[in-house]
Amino acid sequence: MVKPDGVARGLIGGIIQRFERKGLKLVAARFERIPEKRVLEQYREHLEKPFFPSLRHFIESGPCFLMVWEGKNAVSVVRKMIGTTNPAEAEPGTIRGDLALDTGRNVIHASDSPASAAREISLHFSPDEIITYKRTDEPSLYE
Ligand code: RTP
Ligand code: MG
Repeated sequence: MVKPDGVARGLIGGIIQRFERKGLKLVAARFERIPEKRVLEQYREHLEKPFFPSLRHFIESGPCFLMVWEGKNAVSVVRKMIGTTNPAEAEPGTIRGDLALDTGRNVIHASDSPASAAREISLHFSPDEIITYKRTDEPSLYE
């Protein structure tokens, strides 16, 4: 999901374009201010961390753009494309490496494993919001 800093900076379109050009398929999306309950649930692994209050406050401070992307090895591919948590150390060419400076304003969240992706998708989307369709370039994207 594009976090409130990415939304406020007008980065949604550019981020979508990166994933589309990679060949991933957008199968769900929503633009919303995420309710407190779902923010706590999404970041539950960090509840006891010192940075949690500021993380939570920031995510609740404005709208986020939530997306589900599908494709071969989508979770690891997307994690590589977003770059390391601290944007100052993220490789150039990654989203955080190209677009951010500060860990607390790192523009984008992505699930860090298939299990967390499954958990987060079902947290934010109902099954009928996940859309099945074909991209016409699928025969060229996959061997
Ligand atoms: P995310 O969950 O947002 O995709 O980020 P991530 O996996 O790369 O990093 P994670 O360890 O899950 O941390 C979640 C978010 O909390 C903020 N954070 N601040 N000040 C700090 O030391 C610190 N550490 C993490 C970041 O916004 C990070 O993306
Ligand atoms: Mg994380």
